Amino acid sequence: MTSLTIARPDDWHLHLRDGAMMRAVLPWTARDFARAIIMPNLVPPVVTGDQAAAYRDRILSALPDGMDFDPLMTLYLTEDTDADDVTAAHQSGLVKAVKLYPAGATTNSASGVTNFDNIRPVLERMAEIGLPLCVHGEVTDHDIDIFDREAVFIDRVLDPIRRATPGLRVVMEHITTSNAVDYARAQDDSLGATITTHHLVINRNHILAGGIKPHYYCLPVAKREEHRLALRAAATSGEARFFLGTDSAPHTDANKLLPCGCAGCFTAPNTLPILAQVFEEESALDRLEAFTSRNGPKFYGLPINKGTVTLVKSAPTLPSHVDTDEGPVTVFDPGFDLMWSVQ
Ligand code: DOR
Ligand code: ZN
Repeated sequence: MTSLTIARPDDWHLHLRDGAMMRAVLPWTARDFARAIIMPNLVPPVVTGDQAAAYRDRILSALPDGMDFDPLMTLYLTEDTDADDVTAAHQSGLVKAVKLYPAGATTNSASGVTNFDNIRPVLERMAEIGLPLCVHGEVTDHDIDIFDREAVFIDRVLDPIRRATPGLRVVMEHITTSNAVDYARAQDDSLGATITTHHLVINRNHILAGGIKPHYYCLPVAKREEHRLALRAAATSGEARFFLGTDSAPHTDANKLLPCGCAGCFTAPNTLPILAQVFEEESALDRLEAFTSRNGPKFYGLPINKGTVTLVKSAPTLPSHVDTDEGPVTVFDPGFDLMWSVQ
């Protein structure tokens, strides 16, 4: 196959940031994606409906003329979140999901949740009104090994929440383990799971063997090879519960290359070429569209995009860095030469 036309993709998990950083990275997403679920972990976080509306306006003002992109807003769940505010933001059509960060799990998660009992009323309301919960699924206990934090979260937090809140729609975000794949497969269609571009490409050796590679450090951290293979099988299976959430998370090189560097891989510019190659390697190009463009809208109850993108078999010309007023941001290096371009 040398050309593939699919319904225009969406990104079901994206960090756009704000200000100068947002202006620099937004066009790379808007170029290839019609919509994205926008993460609320700004400083300060996007907690209320009013804050989400103002953030959406800032995104749309930063969008270059002629580009067509619909930011799907989320609210950052805190132990003080007001269920009525969440309901109003959902019913106005503004907010498409609420994001759960366990406090301390990742970048700007300090306002997240420590005591999960305190969010029960909001979760019950979300189940009632059909508003999905997007979950960063890692425990933060210092005695749990960082490579085990996702699996332990599923047992100790996620499964109890789902059992206690029947009908709650949940997205397990950026899953990184075969444990998460197995758990997702055992549930009904109230559960979806996103998979990033980079977790289909790297395992923990890429980060740590032969010298430390800060640009491959993200959270949840990439795991063993057997987990990467389970993620590839899930993403390329065509199963409706698995869809693309890039977790493209730009940080300046200055903030990545520190004694305590930031977590995040910036994959917005080259996600589609990388995915085409991954799916081709798995003899699954015919299932790329399900992963990038069909399964996500189905989960969120939104229409599939009317537009299309065409991928052609030719080496793309893509930058290794994107310049921002805050400094350069390195684009994720998949470690192989790309062979597909977005036409
Ligand atoms: O690698 C990550 N970066 N994981 C997250 O959960 C947050 C993100 C960020 O905001 O930089
Ligand atoms: Zn994220």
